[in-house]
Amino acid sequence: MMTDLGLSDVPAELAGPAAELFGDRLAGVRRYAALLADTGVAHGLIGPSEGGRIWQRHLLNCAVMAELIEPDARVLDIGSGAGLPGIPLALARPDLEIVLLEPMARRVEWLRSTVAELDLPITVARGRAEERTVQRDWAGADVVTARAVAPLARLAGWALPLTRIGGRMLALKGASAAEEVDRDRAAVRGFGGSAPRVVQCGSTLVDPPTTVVIVERTAAKVGSRAASAASRGRKR
Ligand SMILES: C[S@@+](CC[C@H](N)C(=O)[O-])C[C@H]1O[C@@H](n2cnc3c(N)ncnc32)[C@H](O)[C@@H]1O
Repeated sequence: MMTDLGLSDVPAELAGPAAELFGDRLAGVRRYAALLADTGVAHGLIGPSEGGRIWQRHLLNCAVMAELIEPDARVLDIGSGAGLPGIPLALARPDLEIVLLEPMARRVEWLRSTVAELDLPITVARGRAEERTVQRDWAGADVVTARAVAPLARLAGWALPLTRIGGRMLALKGASAAEEVDRDRAAVRGFGGSAPRVVQCGSTLVDPPTTVVIVERTAAKVGSRAASAASRGRKR
């Protein structure tokens, strides 16, 4: 049975932003926070020192991406891990149709039990973004999200084939965002993406705001040899 470590409570200074982002779904977010702090840490999905920072670093930081997503979008969250950013997005935006994609069996199992416990209409799929079966089953998303999964060029090579033409990849990045964009612009274009744009979201709700790299899928054909070579050459 799950023990509530007392970490599921919203820190006082974040109560306003949490209420604004999650509205009447806050009880579900508290439950998710408690699961992350308990079995999420026990399964190694988040680090033991993350327990006290779940609301700031994980829940709110991810949920503010919702402002970039159009109503009723089909969202594919690749490399979802503990459900980040997919589960906070589902809790912030019940209109979204969300699929969490994760290759590791133990993580998939944890995600399935968490989604069931939170009673969320989310699909959890096991696989790697670049696999043919994943492309067959999940291509055509309006939005593909990812946080901490791969450097920008490699991520674009995985995410853009899963995005419909005109749809977007939203990559949650840290301080390296602008540098990654400069470095990987050509490779991203080679995968059929637009020029990447760096935006900040949630600036009135979280401090610091969340940095997201946006790439639109503009071309039908993706995966040029040059782009593949560029992305294979990346170390991070
Ligand atoms: C550092 S974790 C980040 C998890 C989560 N997105 C977060 O922000 O906490 C990276 C995740 O990407 C997954 N992953 C790695 N390669 C992948 C691939 N080719 N396709 C899909 N997921 C992948 C890993 O299994 C892992 O769960």
